[in-house]
Amino acid sequence: MTTTVAAALLLGPGVDRVDGRLKVTGAAHYPSDVSWPDMAHAALVRSTIAAGTIARLDTARAAAAPGVLAVITHQNAGRLHKAKRTLQQILYPPPPPPLQDAKISHHGQYVAMVVAETPQQAAAAARLVEVSYDRGQPVLTLEDAAAKPGSNPYLTDMKRGNVTAAMEAAEVTVEGTFTTPAQTHNPLGPFTTVARWDGGTLTVYDSTQNPFNVRAVLAASFGLAEENVRVLSPYVGGGFGAGLRSWPHSILAALAARTVKRPVRLSLTRPQMFTGIGQRPSTVQHLKIAATRDGKLVAIDHEGTSTASMAAAPPARKAPLQSLPPAPGDPYFPLTIGTTAAYACPNVTARDKRVRLNIPPIAMMRAPGEAEGNFALESLLDELSYELGMDPIELRLRNYAEVHPPTGLPWSSKALRECYQVGADRFGWARREPAVGAMRDGRWLVGYGVAGVTFTHYQARCQARATIRRDGTARVASGATDIGTGTYTVMTQLAAEVLGLGLDRVTFELGDTRLPRAPEAGGSGLTAALGSAVHNTCVALVQRFLALAAADSGSPLQGCAIEDVVASDGRLARGDDESRGQTYAEILERHGLDELTADGDSGPSRADTGVIVGSLVASRLGRFGRTLVGASHATVPAGAFGARFAEVRVDPELGALQIARIVSVTDGGRIINEKLARSQIIGGTVGGIGMAMFEQTISDPGSGRVANATLSDYLVAVNADVPDIDVAFVGEPDPGNPIGVKGVGEVGLAGIAAAIANAVHHATGRRIRSLPITIDQLL
Ligand code: MOS
Repeated sequence: MTTTVAAALLLGPGVDRVDGRLKVTGAAHYPSDVSWPDMAHAALVRSTIAAGTIARLDTARAAAAPGVLAVITHQNAGRLHKAKRTLQQILYPPPPPPLQDAKISHHGQYVAMVVAETPQQAAAAARLVEVSYDRGQPVLTLEDAAAKPGSNPYLTDMKRGNVTAAMEAAEVTVEGTFTTPAQTHNPLGPFTTVARWDGGTLTVYDSTQNPFNVRAVLAASFGLAEENVRVLSPYVGGGFGAGLRSWPHSILAALAARTVKRPVRLSLTRPQMFTGIGQRPSTVQHLKIAATRDGKLVAIDHEGTSTASMAAAPPARKAPLQSLPPAPGDPYFPLTIGTTAAYACPNVTARDKRVRLNIPPIAMMRAPGEAEGNFALESLLDELSYELGMDPIELRLRNYAEVHPPTGLPWSSKALRECYQVGADRFGWARREPAVGAMRDGRWLVGYGVAGVTFTHYQARCQARATIRRDGTARVASGATDIGTGTYTVMTQLAAEVLGLGLDRVTFELGDTRLPRAPEAGGSGLTAALGSAVHNTCVALVQRFLALAAADSGSPLQGCAIEDVVASDGRLARGDDESRGQTYAEILERHGLDELTADGDSGPSRADTGVIVGSLVASRLGRFGRTLVGASHATVPAGAFGARFAEVRVDPELGALQIARIVSVTDGGRIINEKLARSQIIGGTVGGIGMAMFEQTISDPGSGRVANATLSDYLVAVNADVPDIDVAFVGEPDPGNPIGVKGVGEVGLAGIAAAIANAVHHATGRRIRSLPITIDQLL
């Protein structure tokens, strides 16, 4: 595997993870490693029906089982309050509080919890809880006549030009219906909450990507002030979006601890991970594209429908004017968002619809909506290229969006053309025989496929704090999470660079709501948000040191402004004469200080399409919302971009599909750590191969029970399925934030499924519009 990065982009090429040693030696404590004296354990009982009510609960046998301390059901749980709706929770709405009534809205919903001395005793007793139900009629599939589509609560629908007229007049049209299945995130780390009460304060360790959101929900549930709840998540065993919302089990762990007056740990089992922490919705998309004979797009119509959960049915409406609107109860899932921004096309309509089913709650999952939307769009563009007899890359370049199509504004930066060029070179696209089935390797049919990616940039507000001590070391902190992506490392690098310290002199702390407020590790936006905050905070800290030195007649830095100094080796020096300077330690000593601290923050990126928060708030709050967000959003459209190339082999007799090669080229702005960014793209690519070939959460159509809720039944791509992945980065630092970052957390997954499906078509002539691509579709 190889990687190139333009040298100017690189800050710390290949810096190893600063937390790598802690992780491999077991010294990094994940929530499931947390153990407190006198800790008890909770186990959950789940509904075995998808709709109806609990008719009878008998907990006597469970309560009498060895080691059992409490059995909690809706009959004795007491009142848990609904979380207040904040801006944050419009994106990540809390599910309804657990164990509040007898109503069942999905299979796997919690109906009881057992607390016992050991996890084994809790699990054994949980099996003794007897529940009978009055069954209702569940709505389980999109095909069910009772499944009624509703409009997207986020109102990302858009319309430009006149699609109907353009379609009628068009020389060429293609259309298709694309389907994608429900998926489950399956982070390796079992989601765990460890909860402890000290009087009226609650401390939890939690598997989350969004500790401040968990804090808000826990505080609301138990009627506490937020400062009386502390959420810690220094290590999280993966998230993929499952940790963006807060989940009922976290509330239940705290409830268990309050009930038995002891610390309690609650770890989800793998099957519970399939019903308790969200799933990627299944989708159906109708897409129609019209073009001229020479390949100019004239119209696109895209309608996407995704599933939503009855467990999130919206509350009664009508919020008072200028207060936050009612949270829709479902997370943001923008299926058609990429279609509106990816290509220069004058006439576009896009509609997102949702259908509420008796299924577990929905969660965003890596590249939510955008991955599915991209599969449809990039597949149908490939079909169009065959209709036109045009090279698929040429077709995309002919419709290159030089400006952001919805607004006509210039992109903050865009190197998608370079993605295609570099990718085509590295892949050897020129060797492609255009005709279907023309390339062979022995009995294998060989196919080449390509897909482009335009991925929304998102960056939220973030705060940080930085301190330099007399020993010349720095501590930088913010209450963000590192879900395995490398946040500890990248933030250490950024702080070390600005402060002019070696990496070994900087400690970065995160994963604690007592630290400055940080946004979720999600939306591919944390590196931009937190990195900008760390940058700004460290600049502010240098300024504090300089303020002391500049006013000091004994300092060689007297009279210097920040533009006049350089920071290196723990020392500030004059830019015009680096022999003249002072170390941080010297400045502290001279002023009789042990340490200096600075607080800082970053706002939403100037380069932000604002599509997520902006359009959402604007649409839900009308003109007030537009005023609220307009100043900081939608001023400069921004996105990450990519080109994905796949070579596949298909056995024409057996229908077996193998991925031979992937080339993935990304414009993510400045790449702070080439090794970690490359890991992100590789991880996203593996997820994309899973999406193309394996992953689907299958529910029994009669009962709604997840039928493949184990890692042996839910297939993910494993080493044997993953070929050589060639990762390259192009582009330049983005001007939208001080560190030049656009984010690479999700863009690597998008485009992979379409590139593979397009390669399958090239090899076989089969146009697969339904994921995953399985053997039966290729026979
Ligand atoms: Mo990602 S779905 O923003 O964790």
